[in-house]
Formats: sequence, structure tokens, C-alpha cells
Amino acid sequence: GRRVTVRDIAAAKERGERWPMVTAYDALTARIFDEAGIPVLLVGDSAAMVVYGYDSTLPVTVDDLLPLTAAVVRGTSRAMIVADLPFGSYQASPQQALETAARFMKEAGAHAVKLEGGHRVIPQVELLVSSGVPVMGHLGLTPQSVNVLGGYRVQGRGQAGDELLMAAKALEHAGAFAIVLECVPSELAQRVTASLGIPTIGIGAGPHTDAQVLVWQDLMGLTPHQPKFVKKYFDLAGEMSRAVRAFADEVVSGAFPTEAHSYH
Ligand code: KIV
Ligand code: NA
Repeated sequence: GRRVTVRDIAAAKERGERWPMVTAYDALTARIFDEAGIPVLLVGDSAAMVVYGYDSTLPVTVDDLLPLTAAVVRGTSRAMIVADLPFGSYQASPQQALETAARFMKEAGAHAVKLEGGHRVIPQVELLVSSGVPVMGHLGLTPQSVNVLGGYRVQGRGQAGDELLMAAKALEHAGAFAIVLECVPSELAQRVTASLGIPTIGIGAGPHTDAQVLVWQDLMGLTPHQPKFVKKYFDLAGEMSRAVRAFADEVVSGAFPTEAHSYH
């Protein structure tokens, strides 16, 4: 089968179909999600935390994310792979954004990129799209701006909601094919979703968006603390802890390996 494209994403909105997105950072995990039929995988700059152990997304670099993106592309055959442009790799100018996006597409095989922000990144979105790079927007809680926002908090309450809606319309007009809405009131996400011809992808944005995204380590219960908007579908941390302790016990006791695991 062929890869999911931006045309498939547009068609889903026309048909009123909801769809899932998850993050991925390595080939084997990406393959599980791809075979499960997840149409879009995001190599998020959340890798800063869940792969590299930083406490925000700010430190992660293009060179950190390129090999993860390449691994996810190699591990999949059907999903569209979206690469997050990290902090500092696109804000300076549209030209900088295009150079960075081109690296993700040429060196890693990404099919689209995501960048954070509203009006200030419109020139970037316009140049990328006119150059042949599908762009996913990201509004609301934009973690690369945590130091300006003053923490990880709900965005777009009151007056700020109207501004967010205007920014979403500007991103659509500039050619974005979808927009992530992170940590915004459900009512605002519903209003934005109804006002746009392109899909909204919610995370902490309630049930009314066209799509939903979660960081896979959150939904699988690998991360130690999950925000309120996460539903934990599995206890991966607990299961892994039990399994590695069982291995350790059996090594110490001599119960592993047995004849079944040995060569002669
Ligand atoms: O980096 C990331 O994982 C993201 C998603 C949460 C949308 O940007
Ligand atoms: Na991100």
C-alpha cells in the first residue's frame, strides 16, 4: 500500500471522520503504530524529554531529531511521517525554515513538518508550502515558548480565544494542512474546528477536534506523571519493571538461561 498523503487528510475532514495521531521516535515502535493503522506519526520535539531526558523541548537540536525521524520512516510503510522543527531551527527567517525542513525531508525522508506559532510564522509557512513542504501548525500551549507563556498552562481563555481563532485562520490561509491545538478549552477547540476547512488535532483540547494526538509514552503509561488530558491505556512502566526484575532474579538464581536457550 501507499503512504497516507495530505489529500487523504483533507478527504477525512470532508467526510467528517475522526483520526488518531501518535508520536514515534524509533523504528520498532513506529512499525507497531503503522501496522495498527495510525495514519499520521509525529516525530515530536517531545523527544527532548522522552528520549533525551531534558526537562523541556528547548535543548533538542535538528541533529538530535534527524536520526530518530529516519528510523521512524524506515520502520513504516503506510503512515505519513511528520517531523517537528525544533526550537531555533525556523523562527529566524523563512529561508532558515526551508533549509531545516529540507534536511528533514532529504536526510531523513520526512513527508511533512510541524512548527509552532501563529502570525509570526506565517511567512515561514508560505515559503515552505510554496516550496513543496506540507506544514502542520501548532497553536495554544506551544512548549517552545514556555518561557514567554510562563509555564505549561491552558491557553486561549477569554479574549485570547479570539486571537487563537484568527491565528488558526491565518495558518490555514498560508497553506497549513492541519493544526495541532494543545491545552485549550474544549469550547474554543470546537469553534476553531468548525471555522476551518483543514483538520484540527487536539491534545488537551477536548472531544470536538477532527483528530487527537498523544505522546506514546504517555498513553502507554511509560512516563512517570501524566497530565490530566492523557488517558493511560497501559501500564508499560509497571510491566517493564516486573519483567526486568524477573530477569534479574532468574540470572541471580540460575533459573535463566535453561537448555532451551542454549547452543551445543
Ligand atoms: O512534540 C510533540 O510530541 C508534540 C505533540 C504533543 C503535538 O508536539
Ligand atoms: Na512538539
